[in-house]
Formats: sequence, structure tokens, C-alpha cells
Amino acid sequence: MYTLNFDTADFTREYWQKKPIVIKNAFNDFEDPISADELAGLAMEEDISSRIVQTQAQGWNVVQGPFEDYDEYGEDGWQLLVQAVNHWYPESQPLVEAFRFLPDWRFDDLMVSFATPKGGVGPHIDNYDVFIIQGEGKRRWQVGNIGNHQQRGGDKNSPLVDDFEPIIDVVLTKGDVLYIPPGYPHCGETLTLALSYSIGFRAPSQQELLTEMADSLIDNNLGKQRFTSTEEVANKGFVSEQQQQGMMNLLTQLAQDPNQYQTMLGKLLSQNRFELDLNPFEQPISANDVIEAIEDGASIQRIGGLKVLKLEADKQAQLYINGEVVTVAGIDADIVAIIANEHFIDQDSLLKWSQQPALVKLVAQLINQGWFYFSE
Ligand code: SIN
Ligand code: CO
Repeated sequence: MYTLNFDTADFTREYWQKKPIVIKNAFNDFEDPISADELAGLAMEEDISSRIVQTQAQGWNVVQGPFEDYDEYGEDGWQLLVQAVNHWYPESQPLVEAFRFLPDWRFDDLMVSFATPKGGVGPHIDNYDVFIIQGEGKRRWQVGNIGNHQQRGGDKNSPLVDDFEPIIDVVLTKGDVLYIPPGYPHCGETLTLALSYSIGFRAPSQQELLTEMADSLIDNNLGKQRFTSTEEVANKGFVSEQQQQGMMNLLTQLAQDPNQYQTMLGKLLSQNRFELDLNPFEQPISANDVIEAIEDGASIQRIGGLKVLKLEADKQAQLYINGEVVTVAGIDADIVAIIANEHFIDQDSLLKWSQQPALVKLVAQLINQGWFYFSE
């Protein structure tokens, strides 16, 4: 169990999305949920996104995984970063749970880093909120103020920024947390062999919202209304202000149908940026198979990182799971809430649910898609 030592309501009010903060001893008796060897093993897998960053005299060199071995990297000056560890390593989920005081739709992934002395990724700015939790070892972190930071060396394609004046300069040790909102430059430097954990949160951009909106209009053959007007401008080469506004109104109308808007949003927000450990059943199981498994003692468990979202005030009796719409018609609202909120549903609850055909059918669907699996 990982329990945060600070008042999360105070944190959310004062710091969340506003300003960075260091919280020393945010966890008492912090235990690393994964070892460096286990992390190195994950970075050997094809489906898992990983990279090594080497510190060099002239900058930083990035090598993308998967990796076969690590001998060539030596004793210091490099860092291994593995994304979405929560998707592949269930023992890391309890650490993620500690941050579920923020909603699931915002959560991106748990990135785990193993760093050797002098290892680091260089000064950069993220578009995401991140909590950096220090496990084994020591790392020094500097955070600069939000503002106009230039790309390093004037290179427009560089993910790095120029050196900055720190407003935070701290050495993190086991159990400390550093929270950094989007836009604040930061840089970590490793002092001793270290494991650290980045819990990232993101929100959609206008580009993502509009792309999803366009995809859903095309899929549903909607949005074909054309602009009309009866008053035309005298200047042959001009587009009138009124017509510009009329076309803008056509666009905003699209977002005003709540059913369409909520479905688009639910699909977008329940998608995952990283591969999931999905194991869909080749031979789908039936409602009867589900009842038998429950009667034999089965519980069900959600796979790591899967997003199951309910939108408040959605009149469509829908859940949104991994970018798909799943109907929950005929299922009580409190049970729908359990499915959206809980990663594990025990046998006692399932036994009660097994009296309701719509629920048994839903459980079969969750299992057949590989979204949940039977556990003891
Ligand atoms: C790191 O652990 O060095 C990278 C984490 C970050 O800067 O967001
Ligand atoms: Co960062």
C-alpha cells in the first residue's frame, strides 16, 4: 500500500496545474515496486516503449529500445526510461492508486527510470503534469519558472531548452515527491544509482478534440450541412464578416448536440497513448461460462492502464472503454459506477450481478475483449 502523507485536497487547490512543489517524505517507508533488473527486463520487450539517454560532452544521445543488453553503457552517464510500466507490471499499480485522487481520464502512464550517476535527460519542458517520486538513490532536481524558454542551441526541433535560473533546487531521496505542472522547465541529475517514478497526467489539445470530432462525423456520416447565405458582398474578392461568422456557427453547432459531443469525448478520453497488455479470447466465452466461473469462485480484474469512463449527465447509458462505446442499458447506475471506478470486482459482488442478464452479458464482453480477466 502506498499512502500519500499530504493533504490532497489542499494540494489540488494550491498547486495542481498552477505551480511546482517539493514534498519531502511524501511517502513513509517507500519501497520500490520494481527492481532495476526487472525494469531492464521490461525494456527488452518489443511491445514496451523504452529509451536510454546518454549524457555526452556535447549534449544528450537517445537510443530507442528494445534493448538486448546493457554492457556497452558502462557504470555512469546514462539513464533507462520505460513508459507505461503500469500496463505490464501489475505490482506497480498500487503506486498509481495513490494518485487516483485525480481522475482517471487525466492519467497518462507510470514511467519508471533507472539512472546511473551523471545520468539525466537534459533540461526540458513537458506538456503534461508530472509527479516525480524518488525511490532508491539520490537525484538533484532543478525547476525553472514558467516563461519564454528557448530551444537548446536555437534548434527548433530540439526537445531540450536552454539552461534556466532555478526556482527549485533540491536533492530528492527515497519517498520524496516533486510535482511539476506543464510549462515549467526542469532538469534531473543523478547523484547515486537511482530508481524514480514519473506519474504523468494529460488533457486533450484542440487538435486532438477536432481530429476526434472529424473522425466521429465521418464514421457516422454526419456533419454534412453546408453553409447558406442570401446576402452577398459587393467586393468581388471579399468574404463578408457575417459569412465568416456563419461558417464559425456551423462549426460550433457540431459540438452542441450533447449525445454526439459526449460520445466523441468519451471515446477520445478513454484512449491510451501506449500499448495495453490485451489478451482477447479467440473463442469468445458465453454468458453461461461467466456464470459458471463466478460460481466456481472467480473475481474479475481490470488490465493495467485500461480506462473505463462514465460521463456525468450522459443520457445514452454508455461507458467508454479504450476508445470504444459500450452499452450499459438496463444496468443500475450504482453498478455502472462500480465498473467505472473499481479495478477489481470480487466474487460476492459478481454473484449478486449474475442474477441480471444484462450484467452477465457485459461481464462476458469485458472478458472477451481482453479488458478484464478472471482472477481468484
Ligand atoms: C527523468 O526521470 O529524468 C525524466 C522525468 C521527467 O523529467 O519528466
Ligand atoms: Co520532464
